[in-house]
Amino acid sequence: MLSALGNSQRCFRAVLLLLALTVLLLAGFLHTHVQLLTPLFRGRAKGLPVTNIMFLKTHKTASSTVLNILYRFAETHNLSAALPTGSSFHLGYPWLFLARYVEGASQNSIGPPRRFNIMCNHLRFNLPEVQKVMPKDTFYFSILRNPVSQLESSFIYYKNYAPAFRHVESLDAFLAAPLAYYDASAGLDNVYARNNMWFDFGFDHNAPAEESYVRARLADVERRFQLLLIAEHFDESMVLLRHRLRWQLDDVVAFRLNARSARSVTSLAPESRERAKRWCALDWRLYQHFNRSFWAQLHAELGPSQLRREVALLRARRQELAALCLEDVAPKNKMQITDRRLRPYQSGKADILGYNLRQDLDSATLRTCQRMVLPEIQYMAHLYSLQFPNKPPKNIQFLEG
Ligand SMILES: *[C@@H]1O[C@H](CO)[C@@H](O)[C@H](O)[C@H]1NC(C)=O
Ligand SMILES: *[C@@H]1O[C@H](CO)[C@@H](O)[C@H](O)[C@H]1NC(C)=O
Repeated sequence: MLSALGNSQRCFRAVLLLLALTVLLLAGFLHTHVQLLTPLFRGRAKGLPVTNIMFLKTHKTASSTVLNILYRFAETHNLSAALPTGSSFHLGYPWLFLARYVEGASQNSIGPPRRFNIMCNHLRFNLPEVQKVMPKDTFYFSILRNPVSQLESSFIYYKNYAPAFRHVESLDAFLAAPLAYYDASAGLDNVYARNNMWFDFGFDHNAPAEESYVRARLADVERRFQLLLIAEHFDESMVLLRHRLRWQLDDVVAFRLNARSARSVTSLAPESRERAKRWCALDWRLYQHFNRSFWAQLHAELGPSQLRREVALLRARRQELAALCLEDVAPKNKMQITDRRLRPYQSGKADILGYNLRQDLDSATLRTCQRMVLPEIQYMAHLYSLQFPNKPPKNIQFLEG
Protein backbone atom coordinates (compact mmCIF):
# COMPACT_ATOMS: atom_id res chain seq x y z
CA MET A 1 0.00 0.00 0.00
CA LEU A 2 2.75 2.43 1.12
CA SER A 3 5.03 1.40 -1.67
CA ALA A 4 2.19 1.73 -4.15
CA LEU A 5 1.57 5.28 -2.91
CA GLY A 6 5.31 6.03 -3.11
CA ASN A 7 5.35 4.68 -6.63
CA SER A 8 2.47 6.82 -7.87
CA GLN A 9 4.00 9.90 -6.14
CA ARG A 10 7.32 9.28 -7.85
CA CYS A 11 5.49 8.81 -11.11
CA PHE A 12 3.61 12.08 -10.60
CA ARG A 13 6.82 13.92 -9.86
CA ALA A 14 8.47 12.49 -12.97
CA VAL A 15 5.54 13.64 -15.10
CA LEU A 16 5.73 17.12 -13.54
CA LEU A 17 9.46 17.27 -14.21
CA LEU A 18 8.95 16.20 -17.79
CA LEU A 19 6.23 18.79 -18.23
CA ALA A 20 8.41 21.52 -16.78
CA LEU A 21 11.29 20.50 -19.04
CA THR A 22 9.03 20.49 -22.08
CA VAL A 23 7.75 23.97 -21.22
CA LEU A 24 11.31 25.21 -20.73
CA LEU A 25 12.48 23.70 -23.99
CA LEU A 26 9.50 25.06 -25.85
CA ALA A 27 10.01 28.50 -24.37
CA GLY A 28 13.68 28.43 -25.35
CA PHE A 29 12.79 27.27 -28.82
CA LEU A 30 10.12 29.91 -29.21
CA HIS A 31 12.39 32.57 -27.78
CA THR A 32 15.15 32.02 -30.29
CA HIS A 33 12.59 31.90 -33.06
CA VAL A 34 10.94 35.07 -31.88
CA GLN A 35 14.37 36.69 -31.86
CA LEU A 36 15.09 35.40 -35.34
CA LEU A 37 11.74 36.49 -36.62
CA THR A 38 11.47 39.97 -35.17
CA PRO A 39 14.15 41.72 -37.21
CA LEU A 40 12.91 39.97 -40.31
CA PHE A 41 9.39 41.05 -39.57
CA ARG A 42 10.46 44.57 -38.77
CA GLY A 43 12.62 44.58 -41.88
CA ARG A 44 9.66 43.66 -43.98
CA ALA A 45 7.31 46.09 -42.31
CA LYS A 46 9.66 49.04 -42.65
CA GLY A 47 11.69 47.56 -45.44
CA LEU A 48 15.40 47.02 -45.81
CA PRO A 49 17.12 49.44 -48.17
CA VAL A 50 17.41 48.21 -51.74
CA THR A 51 21.08 47.64 -52.61
CA ASN A 52 20.98 45.87 -55.98
CA ILE A 53 20.34 48.54 -58.55
CA MET A 54 20.66 49.02 -62.29
CA PHE A 55 20.37 52.60 -63.48
CA LEU A 56 20.21 53.06 -67.23
CA LYS A 57 22.11 56.30 -67.60
CA THR A 58 20.53 58.12 -70.51
CA HIS A 59 22.32 61.09 -72.11
CA LYS A 60 21.67 64.78 -71.32
CA THR A 61 18.90 63.99 -68.84
CA ALA A 62 20.32 65.05 -65.44
CA SER A 63 21.61 61.49 -65.16
CA SER A 64 25.01 62.65 -63.88
CA THR A 65 23.34 63.89 -60.72
CA VAL A 66 21.66 60.49 -60.26
CA LEU A 67 25.01 58.83 -60.90
CA ASN A 68 26.56 60.83 -58.06
CA ILE A 69 23.79 59.63 -55.73
CA LEU A 70 24.43 56.01 -56.67
CA TYR A 71 28.23 56.28 -56.46
CA ARG A 72 27.96 57.84 -52.99
CA PHE A 73 25.62 55.11 -51.81
CA ALA A 74 27.91 52.42 -53.21
CA GLU A 75 30.97 53.95 -51.57
CA THR A 76 29.45 54.61 -48.16
CA HIS A 77 27.78 51.18 -47.99
CA ASN A 78 30.75 49.29 -49.38
CA LEU A 79 28.76 47.98 -52.33
CA SER A 80 30.35 46.73 -55.52
CA ALA A 81 29.88 48.72 -58.71
CA ALA A 82 29.99 47.35 -62.25
CA LEU A 83 32.70 49.65 -63.63
CA PRO A 84 34.22 49.86 -67.13
CA THR A 85 37.28 47.66 -67.78
CA GLY A 86 40.83 48.95 -68.00
CA SER A 87 41.14 52.49 -69.26
CA SER A 88 37.51 52.78 -70.51
CA PHE A 89 35.11 55.41 -69.21
CA HIS A 90 31.83 53.74 -70.08
CA LEU A 91 30.39 50.29 -70.53
CA GLY A 92 30.90 49.91 -74.27
CA TYR A 93 28.55 52.70 -75.33
CA PRO A 94 27.39 53.17 -78.07
CA TRP A 95 27.73 49.45 -78.71
CA LEU A 96 25.15 47.15 -77.15
CA PHE A 97 26.27 46.26 -73.65
CA LEU A 98 28.19 43.03 -73.08
CA ALA A 99 29.04 41.56 -69.67
CA ARG A 100 32.71 41.53 -70.58
CA TYR A 101 32.78 45.35 -70.61
CA VAL A 102 32.61 45.17 -66.79
CA GLU A 103 35.90 45.05 -64.87
CA GLY A 104 36.21 41.84 -62.89
CA ALA A 105 33.03 40.26 -64.31
CA SER A 106 34.89 37.16 -65.45
CA GLN A 107 37.54 36.51 -62.86
CA ASN A 108 38.25 33.16 -64.47
CA SER A 109 37.08 31.49 -67.67
CA ILE A 110 35.19 28.75 -65.82
CA GLY A 111 32.19 29.40 -63.63
CA PRO A 112 29.56 32.15 -63.85
CA PRO A 113 30.51 35.84 -64.02
CA ARG A 114 30.78 37.81 -60.81
CA ARG A 115 27.71 39.82 -59.83
CA PHE A 116 27.65 43.44 -58.71
CA ASN A 117 25.35 45.58 -56.55
CA ILE A 118 25.25 48.76 -58.58
CA MET A 119 25.43 49.36 -62.31
CA CYS A 120 25.07 52.95 -63.51
CA ASN A 121 27.60 53.92 -66.18
CA HIS A 122 26.62 54.81 -69.72
CA LEU A 123 25.69 51.73 -71.69
CA ARG A 124 23.26 50.72 -74.41
CA PHE A 125 20.75 48.47 -72.69
CA ASN A 126 20.93 44.76 -73.46
CA LEU A 127 19.00 42.79 -70.84
CA PRO A 128 20.47 39.26 -71.20
CA GLU A 129 24.01 40.61 -70.81
CA VAL A 130 23.05 42.91 -67.93
CA GLN A 131 21.48 39.91 -66.17
CA LYS A 132 24.80 38.07 -66.33
CA VAL A 133 26.39 40.56 -63.93
CA MET A 134 23.41 41.78 -61.90
CA PRO A 135 21.50 39.74 -59.27
CA LYS A 136 17.96 38.49 -59.93
CA ASP A 137 16.34 40.91 -57.46
CA THR A 138 17.92 44.02 -59.06
CA PHE A 139 15.85 47.21 -59.13
CA TYR A 140 15.92 48.73 -62.64
CA PHE A 141 15.31 52.41 -63.20
CA SER A 142 16.17 55.22 -65.57
CA ILE A 143 15.48 58.89 -66.23
CA LEU A 144 13.85 60.65 -69.20
CA ARG A 145 13.79 64.28 -70.24
CA ASN A 146 11.60 66.20 -72.62
CA PRO A 147 13.14 65.23 -76.00
CA VAL A 148 13.07 68.85 -77.19
CA SER A 149 15.38 69.99 -74.37
CA GLN A 150 17.31 66.72 -74.54
CA LEU A 151 18.07 67.34 -78.23
CA GLU A 152 19.03 70.97 -77.54
CA SER A 153 21.48 69.85 -74.88
CA SER A 154 22.79 67.08 -77.10
CA PHE A 155 23.37 69.54 -79.95
CA ILE A 156 25.56 71.77 -77.81
CA TYR A 157 27.41 68.93 -76.13
CA TYR A 158 28.04 66.77 -79.22
CA LYS A 159 28.36 69.67 -81.68
CA ASN A 160 31.85 68.68 -82.80
CA TYR A 161 31.35 64.97 -82.33
CA ALA A 162 28.15 63.90 -84.12
CA PRO A 163 28.60 64.18 -87.93
CA ALA A 164 24.97 65.37 -88.22
CA PHE A 165 25.71 68.42 -86.05
CA ARG A 166 29.20 69.28 -87.25
CA HIS A 167 28.31 71.28 -90.34
CA VAL A 168 25.24 73.19 -89.22
CA GLU A 169 25.39 76.38 -87.21
CA SER A 170 22.25 76.03 -85.12
CA LEU A 171 19.69 73.48 -84.01
CA ASP A 172 16.98 75.63 -85.64
CA ALA A 173 18.78 75.24 -88.98
CA PHE A 174 19.26 71.50 -88.39
CA LEU A 175 15.59 70.95 -87.58
CA ALA A 176 14.45 72.91 -90.65
CA ALA A 177 16.02 70.21 -92.85
CA PRO A 178 17.42 67.39 -90.68
CA LEU A 179 17.89 64.94 -93.54
CA ALA A 180 20.26 67.34 -95.24
CA TYR A 181 22.67 66.82 -92.32
CA TYR A 182 21.71 63.47 -90.85
CA ASP A 183 22.82 60.27 -92.50
CA ALA A 184 21.32 57.21 -90.79
CA SER A 185 24.04 55.02 -92.30
CA ALA A 186 26.81 57.20 -90.85
CA GLY A 187 27.01 54.76 -87.96
CA LEU A 188 27.01 55.13 -84.24
CA ASP A 189 28.50 58.63 -84.03
CA ASN A 190 25.09 59.98 -85.00
CA VAL A 191 23.11 58.36 -82.19
CA TYR A 192 23.11 61.68 -80.30
CA ALA A 193 21.26 63.39 -83.16
CA ARG A 194 17.97 61.47 -83.16
CA ASN A 195 15.92 59.55 -80.56
CA ASN A 196 18.95 59.16 -78.35
CA MET A 197 16.96 57.89 -75.34
CA TRP A 198 15.22 55.28 -77.49
CA PHE A 199 18.66 54.16 -78.63
CA ASP A 200 19.94 53.95 -75.04
CA PHE A 201 17.14 51.53 -74.21
CA GLY A 202 18.58 49.25 -76.88
CA PHE A 203 16.04 49.98 -79.62
CA ASP A 204 16.38 51.12 -83.23
CA HIS A 205 16.41 54.91 -83.11
CA ASN A 206 15.81 55.21 -86.86
CA ALA A 207 12.68 53.02 -86.87
CA PRO A 208 9.44 54.60 -88.15
CA ALA A 209 7.16 55.50 -85.22
CA GLU A 210 4.46 52.98 -86.10
CA GLU A 211 1.86 52.46 -83.42
CA SER A 212 2.23 48.69 -82.92
CA TYR A 213 6.03 48.93 -82.87
CA VAL A 214 6.03 51.81 -80.38
CA ARG A 215 3.55 50.07 -78.09
CA ALA A 216 5.54 46.84 -78.11
CA ARG A 217 8.77 48.64 -77.13
CA LEU A 218 7.04 50.69 -74.42
CA ALA A 219 5.73 47.42 -73.01
CA ASP A 220 9.29 46.03 -73.05
CA VAL A 221 10.50 48.99 -70.98
CA GLU A 222 7.55 48.69 -68.61
CA ARG A 223 8.21 44.98 -68.05
CA ARG A 224 11.82 45.48 -67.07
CA PHE A 225 12.06 48.92 -65.44
CA GLN A 226 10.30 49.45 -62.13
CA LEU A 227 10.64 53.21 -62.36
CA LEU A 228 11.28 55.92 -64.93
CA LEU A 229 12.13 59.29 -63.46
CA ILE A 230 11.42 62.60 -65.18
CA ALA A 231 14.21 65.20 -65.31
CA GLU A 232 11.76 68.14 -65.40
CA HIS A 233 10.41 66.94 -62.05
CA PHE A 234 13.73 66.06 -60.50
CA ASP A 235 12.84 66.63 -56.85
CA GLU A 236 9.59 64.68 -57.09
CA SER A 237 11.63 62.00 -58.84
CA MET A 238 14.04 61.82 -55.91
CA VAL A 239 11.15 61.57 -53.46
CA LEU A 240 9.65 58.64 -55.36
CA LEU A 241 13.03 57.00 -55.81
CA ARG A 242 13.75 57.26 -52.09
CA HIS A 243 10.45 55.57 -51.29
CA ARG A 244 11.07 52.74 -53.72
CA LEU A 245 14.63 52.14 -52.54
CA ARG A 246 13.71 52.68 -48.87
CA TRP A 247 16.73 54.99 -48.44
CA GLN A 248 17.40 57.87 -46.06
CA LEU A 249 16.73 61.46 -47.09
CA ASP A 250 20.45 62.35 -47.29
CA ASP A 251 21.05 59.46 -49.69
CA VAL A 252 19.05 61.22 -52.42
CA VAL A 253 20.08 64.82 -51.74
CA ALA A 254 22.48 66.02 -54.43
CA PHE A 255 23.83 69.17 -56.03
CA ARG A 256 23.15 69.60 -59.71
CA LEU A 257 26.11 68.12 -61.56
CA ASN A 258 27.35 68.33 -65.14
CA ALA A 259 24.98 71.23 -65.83
CA ARG A 260 25.75 73.89 -68.42
CA SER A 261 26.11 77.61 -67.83
CA ALA A 262 23.06 79.65 -68.87
CA ARG A 263 25.28 81.10 -71.61
CA SER A 264 25.54 77.73 -73.35
CA VAL A 265 21.81 76.97 -73.26
CA THR A 266 20.06 78.11 -76.45
CA SER A 267 16.38 78.84 -76.78
CA LEU A 268 14.59 77.27 -79.72
CA ALA A 269 12.12 78.88 -82.09
CA PRO A 270 8.53 77.63 -81.46
CA GLU A 271 8.37 75.88 -84.85
CA SER A 272 11.67 74.15 -84.03
CA ARG A 273 10.13 72.70 -80.88
CA GLU A 274 7.36 71.10 -82.96
CA ARG A 275 9.91 69.88 -85.50
CA ALA A 276 12.01 68.36 -82.72
CA LYS A 277 9.00 66.37 -81.48
CA ARG A 278 8.48 65.00 -84.98
CA TRP A 279 12.18 64.38 -85.62
CA CYS A 280 12.45 62.51 -82.32
CA ALA A 281 8.98 60.98 -82.46
CA LEU A 282 10.10 57.77 -80.72
CA ASP A 283 11.60 59.68 -77.82
CA TRP A 284 8.53 61.89 -77.68
CA ARG A 285 6.27 58.83 -77.32
CA LEU A 286 8.59 57.35 -74.70
CA TYR A 287 8.58 60.57 -72.71
CA GLN A 288 4.82 61.17 -72.94
CA HIS A 289 4.04 57.64 -71.87
CA PHE A 290 6.35 57.59 -68.87
CA ASN A 291 5.60 61.14 -67.80
CA ARG A 292 2.00 59.96 -67.39
CA SER A 293 2.91 56.83 -65.50
CA PHE A 294 5.38 58.76 -63.31
CA TRP A 295 2.62 61.03 -62.02
CA ALA A 296 0.19 58.14 -61.67
CA GLN A 297 2.71 56.22 -59.55
CA LEU A 298 3.63 59.25 -57.50
CA HIS A 299 -0.01 59.98 -56.67
CA ALA A 300 -0.72 56.34 -55.93
CA GLU A 301 2.08 56.22 -53.36
CA LEU A 302 1.99 59.65 -51.72
CA GLY A 303 -0.86 61.96 -50.88
CA PRO A 304 -0.52 65.54 -52.18
CA SER A 305 0.38 66.99 -48.79
CA GLN A 306 2.94 64.25 -48.11
CA LEU A 307 4.49 64.88 -51.52
CA ARG A 308 4.69 68.62 -50.87
CA ARG A 309 6.20 68.00 -47.45
CA GLU A 310 8.82 65.59 -48.74
CA VAL A 311 9.82 67.81 -51.66
CA ALA A 312 10.17 70.74 -49.24
CA LEU A 313 12.30 68.62 -46.88
CA LEU A 314 14.55 67.55 -49.74
CA ARG A 315 15.05 71.15 -50.90
CA ALA A 316 15.71 72.41 -47.39
CA ARG A 317 18.30 69.71 -46.82
CA ARG A 318 20.00 70.48 -50.14
CA GLN A 319 20.24 74.16 -49.15
CA GLU A 320 21.60 73.20 -45.76
CA LEU A 321 24.27 71.00 -47.31
CA ALA A 322 25.12 73.65 -49.90
CA ALA A 323 25.66 76.20 -47.13
CA LEU A 324 27.76 73.68 -45.23
CA CYS A 325 29.90 72.50 -48.16
CA LEU A 326 30.17 75.16 -50.83
CA GLU A 327 32.21 78.33 -50.94
CA ASP A 328 29.47 79.78 -53.13
CA VAL A 329 26.21 77.97 -53.86
CA ALA A 330 26.24 79.15 -57.49
CA PRO A 331 28.04 76.60 -59.70
CA LYS A 332 31.34 77.65 -61.22
CA ASN A 333 32.94 77.30 -64.64
CA LYS A 334 36.12 75.34 -65.21
CA MET A 335 38.52 78.25 -64.69
CA GLN A 336 36.80 79.33 -61.47
CA ILE A 337 37.23 75.90 -59.88
CA THR A 338 40.45 76.11 -57.91
CA ASP A 339 40.92 72.41 -57.11
CA ARG A 340 41.53 70.91 -60.55
CA ARG A 341 40.41 67.47 -59.38
CA LEU A 342 36.93 68.97 -59.01
CA ARG A 343 36.83 70.31 -62.58
CA PRO A 344 34.30 68.51 -64.74
CA TYR A 345 35.04 67.22 -68.23
CA GLN A 346 34.19 69.80 -70.93
CA SER A 347 32.65 69.01 -74.29
CA GLY A 348 31.51 70.76 -77.45
CA LYS A 349 30.24 74.28 -76.96
CA ALA A 350 28.98 73.59 -73.44
CA ASP A 351 30.47 75.20 -70.31
CA ILE A 352 30.10 72.38 -67.84
CA LEU A 353 29.93 73.71 -64.31
CA GLY A 354 31.20 72.46 -60.97
CA TYR A 355 31.79 73.69 -57.41
CA ASN A 356 34.41 75.01 -55.01
CA LEU A 357 34.35 73.62 -51.48
CA ARG A 358 34.68 75.74 -48.38
CA GLN A 359 38.19 75.94 -47.00
CA ASP A 360 37.34 75.50 -43.33
CA LEU A 361 35.77 72.03 -43.30
CA ASP A 362 36.72 69.40 -40.72
CA SER A 363 37.89 66.14 -42.24
CA ALA A 364 34.60 64.20 -41.86
CA THR A 365 32.54 67.03 -43.35
CA LEU A 366 35.11 67.50 -46.09
CA ARG A 367 34.76 63.84 -47.08
CA THR A 368 30.96 64.10 -47.25
CA CYS A 369 31.13 67.31 -49.24
CA GLN A 370 33.81 66.05 -51.64
CA ARG A 371 31.62 63.11 -52.54
CA MET A 372 28.80 65.47 -53.45
CA VAL A 373 30.84 67.61 -55.86
CA LEU A 374 33.27 65.10 -57.35
CA PRO A 375 32.60 65.05 -61.12
CA GLU A 376 31.52 61.70 -62.48
CA ILE A 377 34.69 60.66 -64.31
CA GLN A 378 36.84 61.39 -61.26
CA TYR A 379 34.37 59.54 -59.02
CA MET A 380 34.37 56.55 -61.32
CA ALA A 381 38.17 56.51 -61.26
CA HIS A 382 38.11 56.76 -57.46
CA LEU A 383 35.72 53.82 -57.08
CA TYR A 384 37.76 51.84 -59.58
CA SER A 385 40.92 52.31 -57.53
CA LEU A 386 39.08 51.33 -54.34
CA GLN A 387 37.63 48.21 -55.93
CA PHE A 388 40.69 47.17 -57.94
CA PRO A 389 43.69 48.42 -55.95
CA ASN A 390 46.02 46.14 -57.90
CA LYS A 391 45.04 47.41 -61.35
CA PRO A 392 46.51 50.53 -62.96
CA PRO A 393 44.29 53.49 -62.04
CA LYS A 394 42.12 55.18 -64.68
CA ASN A 395 44.08 57.80 -66.54
CA ILE A 396 42.08 61.03 -66.65
CA GLN A 397 43.90 63.01 -69.32
CA PHE A 398 41.79 66.15 -69.26
CA LEU A 399 42.90 66.84 -65.68
CA GLU A 400 46.51 67.06 -66.83
CA GLY A 401 46.03 69.85 -69.37
C1 LIG B 1 33.93 45.81 -48.26
O1 LIG B 1 33.64 44.71 -49.11
C2 LIG B 1 34.76 43.91 -49.43
C3 LIG B 1 34.33 42.85 -50.42
O2 LIG B 1 33.07 43.04 -50.93
C4 LIG B 1 35.32 43.31 -48.18
O3 LIG B 1 36.47 42.55 -48.51
C5 LIG B 1 35.69 44.43 -47.22
O4 LIG B 1 36.13 43.88 -46.00
C6 LIG B 1 34.50 45.33 -46.95
N1 LIG B 1 34.92 46.47 -46.14
C7 LIG B 1 34.18 46.96 -45.15
C8 LIG B 1 34.74 48.14 -44.43
O5 LIG B 1 33.11 46.50 -44.85
C1 LIG C 1 3.91 65.63 -67.67
O1 LIG C 1 2.88 65.37 -66.76
C2 LIG C 1 2.48 66.50 -65.98
C3 LIG C 1 1.47 66.05 -64.94
O2 LIG C 1 0.42 65.37 -65.53
C4 LIG C 1 1.95 67.58 -66.90
O3 LIG C 1 1.62 68.71 -66.14
C5 LIG C 1 3.00 67.93 -67.95
O4 LIG C 1 2.46 68.84 -68.88
C6 LIG C 1 3.47 66.69 -68.68
N1 LIG C 1 4.57 67.04 -69.57
C7 LIG C 1 4.51 66.90 -70.89
C8 LIG C 1 5.66 67.43 -71.64
O5 LIG C 1 3.59 66.34 -71.44
